[in-house]
Amino acid sequence: MNDSGPISYLTQREAAEIDETLMGPLGFSVDQLMELAGLSVATSITEVYKPGEYNRVLAICGPGNNGGDGLVAARHLHHFGYKPSICYPKRTAKPLYAGLVTQLESLSVPFVSVDDLPEDLSKDFDVIIDAVFGFSFHGAPRPPFDDLIRRLVSLQNRAAVVSVDIPSGWHVEEGDIEGGGVKPDMLVSLTAPKLCAKRFSGNHHFLGGRFIPPSVAERFKLELPSYPGTSMCVRIGKPPKVDISAMRVNYVSPELLEDQVEVDPILQFRKWFDEAVASGLRETNAMALSTTNKDRKPSSRMVLLKGFDENGFVWFTNYESKKGSDLTENPCAALLFYWESLNRQVRIEGPVERISEAESESYYHSRPRGSRIGAIVSKQSSVVAGRHVLYDEYEELTKKYSDGSVIPKPKNWGGFRLKPNLFEFWQGQPSRLHDRLQYSLQDVNGNRSWVIHRLAP
Ligand SMILES: Cc1cc2nc3c(=O)[nH]c(=O)nc-3n(C[C@H](O)[C@H](O)[C@H](O)COP(=O)(O)O)c2cc1C
Repeated sequence: MNDSGPISYLTQREAAEIDETLMGPLGFSVDQLMELAGLSVATSITEVYKPGEYNRVLAICGPGNNGGDGLVAARHLHHFGYKPSICYPKRTAKPLYAGLVTQLESLSVPFVSVDDLPEDLSKDFDVIIDAVFGFSFHGAPRPPFDDLIRRLVSLQNRAAVVSVDIPSGWHVEEGDIEGGGVKPDMLVSLTAPKLCAKRFSGNHHFLGGRFIPPSVAERFKLELPSYPGTSMCVRIGKPPKVDISAMRVNYVSPELLEDQVEVDPILQFRKWFDEAVASGLRETNAMALSTTNKDRKPSSRMVLLKGFDENGFVWFTNYESKKGSDLTENPCAALLFYWESLNRQVRIEGPVERISEAESESYYHSRPRGSRIGAIVSKQSSVVAGRHVLYDEYEELTKKYSDGSVIPKPKNWGGFRLKPNLFEFWQGQPSRLHDRLQYSLQDVNGNRSWVIHRLAP
């Protein structure tokens, strides 16, 4: 969700002038802008409509640039794993458009005539791209587009309609004045939203067209949100409405079978941890730590795993924090890892003890100087009068240690180690028939050994 402040809305004339500036003095070609616009539309779609659920896409393309954006978006969606089809009833006889058609044909993307489309488009399609008319369109839509717009309007949320820049049938500045225009679920504004976008009431408003140079932004006094990372689109407008009770994912994963797992749960954890790292997950070592106090009141928070071996699982913190005092009162805890993209969860439970001062010293001094100062400044879990209190003390200590001298470890800062007596490896499966393999430490023939049980999901 973008919260970077006010956003400019363009009149039809300003939108045309920006395009003229880009394609005149700034040296852009129409092909380039169309490619980037179409890519923005395709990436906006992938942000909301995942290909596993919304696979069948229809791009309805008009005769102008908006239609070209739709053709480009369909090509990218094909490469992103969707199954696009195109309805392009009034082809434009220019090399740029002929090239886009050839590219799609070479990917075997089907072109469907208006007559071959079902009256109820939701029968054959999950997402429909409305790339019929752009910001330069005015007047009343003519056949066959009037009929296509009617079919889009009659869908009434049975399929997701994504409008490119302007919902078809809308006035560029006034919106849906006749009341017969498309009511899209998603609007992808290109370059900057046009005035009509203020009247958009669908769930998802995105901005694309990440090519505006500062000189154009300054000249047209454009206030635009920044794009995250390398993204070609950014969400603007209100956050999406979600029905929490309807949110569910059908997990599909390889089976987790008793005869495939390691006998030693530490080795099994190592295997899964390495796979989670290899999958590109961020902060694979982030885990929920649950503790209880002497009154048996539970409390959870995230911490970072900093090492594990047959001796246990280690993290660092302030011994006088809430978790520190809980662990003094009840030195037992539960750890929980959730690796979303792998559909995996690992639970680990057992007694907890402080690690040696020498180990804590060694890790503390391996941390960046800023983090070491932060550990001194933060009387973790105590009430502070305001951010400035922390900031002022941080500044003071940064000055004090600016000569590069040793920053001492606070006495109340160090590591804990949980020695596991229970593990559970959970692998999500279709229809909620998940795999759960629990390892518990039991006495077997006088020896403490790990015993594996399958638990019902
Ligand atoms: C991803 C993540 C990692 C964190 N890692 C640590 C950590 O390693 N040590 C720590 O003391 N706090 C860490 N925190 C902050 C804790 O969640 C928590 O706010 C803090 O430790 C105070 O918790 P307490 O009042 O329950 O003791 C982390 C938070 C997040 C979101």
